[in-house]
Amino acid sequence: MSEINKLNTIFEKIYNMSHNLLKGKKGIIFGALDDKSIAWKVAEKVKEQGGEFVLSNAPVALRMGKISDLAEACNTEVIAADATNMEDLQALFDQAVEKYGKLDFILHSIGMSPNVRKGKDYTNLNYDWYHKTMDISAFSFHRVMQTAYKMDCMNEWGSILALSYIAAQRVFPDYGDMADAKATLESITRSFGYHFGQKANVRVNTISQSPTYTTAGSGVKGFAEFFEYAEKMSPLGNASSDACADYCVSLFSDLSKMITMQNIYHDGGFSNMGLSPALIMDAIEKEA
Ligand SMILES: NC(=O)c1ccc[n+]([C@@H]2O[C@H](COP(=O)([O-])OP(=O)(O)OC[C@H]3O[C@@H](n4cnc5c(N)ncnc54)[C@H](O)[C@@H]3O)[C@@H](O)[C@H]2O)c1
Repeated sequence: MSEINKLNTIFEKIYNMSHNLLKGKKGIIFGALDDKSIAWKVAEKVKEQGGEFVLSNAPVALRMGKISDLAEACNTEVIAADATNMEDLQALFDQAVEKYGKLDFILHSIGMSPNVRKGKDYTNLNYDWYHKTMDISAFSFHRVMQTAYKMDCMNEWGSILALSYIAAQRVFPDYGDMADAKATLESITRSFGYHFGQKANVRVNTISQSPTYTTAGSGVKGFAEFFEYAEKMSPLGNASSDACADYCVSLFSDLSKMITMQNIYHDGGFSNMGLSPALIMDAIEKEA
């Protein structure tokens, strides 16, 4: 095969990988910290599908330096914003709207609990930290949406997504006060989903993701054991961050226009399992 033909084959392969599902769509992606972050994968896939976006993270995360590599690869910019600070959020949205006009998608991929980080048991919470957990991991979603709502800066049929975890519904003791934050996050999704739907046919959903090795994920006590447990409990195994990013793309696209106010499990089937023969076999083998 000649060099030109080889190149054409490569370009054809690249073209076929992208269906341009997000061509012409613009947005904001919050929460890419490093290449393990779910938001990092989402940014790569959104770009692959023709979408354009600005990246945002807390000023302290920017100082850690890696997000600028992602911005360069995606040919975009990073705008610092602490998602618990309304002035930061207003400035971010002002800049994004100045760059793109109205927006089509927003990813809120933000979570942090000082109590979980510092190993505080749920029965011994520090209440200042509890407030922080709720503000960073749940109320910030309200803050983001209220900013966009008041500015009327979402296009019709836009899509807003946040990431949740099944500890919002079931008890996972080591997930601590993050469980309360996720339950609140999902409630905010329903409540704001109503208002945004009425205002401009904008969708608001959460994706409830499998345990995933990231900075936030692996900060939870016993994460490795739990990851293995969920892997065996789920008929499809744990959903990877790449698969999660694909799913985000589909929910930003026009192929999912009528889904709103939902918490959608993206967990390889974990949420509907009761008992897994694979785990029982493990237990028997350990006893033998
Ligand atoms: N990793 C998992 O096992 C898992 C499972 C289900 C849901 N999630 C959720 O996915 C989302 C993304 O987390 P991740 O696993 O990619 O981890 P991550 O640590 O890569 O991402 C968390 C992000 O939150 C950002 N953040 C923290 N405080 C902030 C603030 N005040 N303002 C703005 N940004 C702030 C961090 O800088 C970081 O980029 C979180 O909501 C998390 O709870 C994660």
